[in-house]
Amino acid sequence: MSEGSWLNRRAFLKGAGATALAGAATSGASLLHPVTAGAAVQDGSGQFDFDTPYDRIGTDCAKWDTIIERHGAENIQVAMGVADMDFKCAPVITEALMDRVKHENWGYLKMPEDFFPAIVDWNRTRHGLEINPDLMALSDGVHPALIAALKALARPGSKVLLTTSTYSGFYMDLRESHTLAEESPLIIDNGVHRLDFDDLESRISQETDVLILCNPQNPTGNCWSPEDLMRLGQLCLERRVVVLADEIHCDFVTRGQKYTPFASLPDKNVVNNSVTFQSGSKTFSLAAMKVAWFHSTNPEYFRKVQDQHMAQTNTLGVVAHHAALRGGAEWLDQLLVYLDGNHDLVEQYLRDNVPQIKYTKAQGTYLAWLDVSQIGEAIGAAEKAVAATETEEEEVTPEDIVVRWLVENAGVYTNPGSNYGPGGEGWVRMNLGASRQLIQVALDNIAEAMNSL
Ligand SMILES: Cc1ncc(COP(=O)(O)O)c(C=O)c1O
Repeated sequence: MSEGSWLNRRAFLKGAGATALAGAATSGASLLHPVTAGAAVQDGSGQFDFDTPYDRIGTDCAKWDTIIERHGAENIQVAMGVADMDFKCAPVITEALMDRVKHENWGYLKMPEDFFPAIVDWNRTRHGLEINPDLMALSDGVHPALIAALKALARPGSKVLLTTSTYSGFYMDLRESHTLAEESPLIIDNGVHRLDFDDLESRISQETDVLILCNPQNPTGNCWSPEDLMRLGQLCLERRVVVLADEIHCDFVTRGQKYTPFASLPDKNVVNNSVTFQSGSKTFSLAAMKVAWFHSTNPEYFRKVQDQHMAQTNTLGVVAHHAALRGGAEWLDQLLVYLDGNHDLVEQYLRDNVPQIKYTKAQGTYLAWLDVSQIGEAIGAAEKAVAATETEEEEVTPEDIVVRWLVENAGVYTNPGSNYGPGGEGWVRMNLGASRQLIQVALDNIAEAMNSL
């Protein structure tokens, strides 16, 4: 965003404040914006605009500004790293926030009565999942909730099973909870990642208390099938390993795919052996609004996690999530179609123009997990990584070298596969949560860069 548009934005907000309040103060029990589903559609045709690129540069945005600071603005044309999206948020969210801002007091928040019902209804309507609100709690992120669950359900020094490649942030949660990773690499079968049940079973020992399931899986994009989840759940139940199901990406599935909530499995005992973590932060790109929730059907697990946990939720985050859950379904439905098109574009383009990079369309998430091992070989990434590690302060992996090559030669930033545990060797993660024009620029730049190899 240019400096000029920042100034315009400030003037706009100031204007809104000047016309403040009357309605907000008189609205009775809650200052939540009254949201009707499907309100505030972007144009007359009922279509939201995902196509026009939305410039986030200069807004202290982690996805763009951190990478530009690291590599230089001249080297970054498309930032495709950290998992949030570049679109303007659903208009119902902005409306609700603007409305709330008119009430100029930011004291402690009492949880609005309709907040938990909004979460329960969302899960029932979209995923057929019944959540008991008495066994659900808010958090200021999936991380704090997961850390609390690890502290509650895994002994310090115990092993936490991870099926890798998996979300890099889990390693941070393990550090915080003084637990250790036990990694079971996924098997790759015809481009599709699968759980290796024999390997998983062999890794469970007296020291294993917990498994962190990522469903859908970041970065591989798997939507785990009911059969896989049941088999995994039964194994964990038999071996007394608690399942922590991180389902933050649950609202993103590609065409023909389905997300199965772990808590919807037909075996009550399997479900009772789990705690589930969700948020609207990925679904509606509200990551910095810091609202998430966890729930369980097992009162003992739930209370244990709560004992370790203190939610620090904030007014704007709650308002934004409430508006999204109550009125954002139509925006999301259109977005899913759009993202599906992005996945298709990347799969088809790479197949036709850059066969050295392999991509099998993700089943869920807006992330593309790309096999770039041929680039690594062509540029001597392994040798370069060894040399770079000698001169730099931190270990440099071959995947870091490929990421740097893509930055230097294509202006495209992706995340190195080595961040995601064993199995990420030779892979990078590309975030497709952006306008198709940007995706196209990234693909064309990469195709051109490949010509120089
Ligand atoms: C699987 C997974 N869990 C958790 C998080 C982070 O969640 P939060 O920002 O709510 O702490 C992410 C963010 O990318 C994620 O992909």
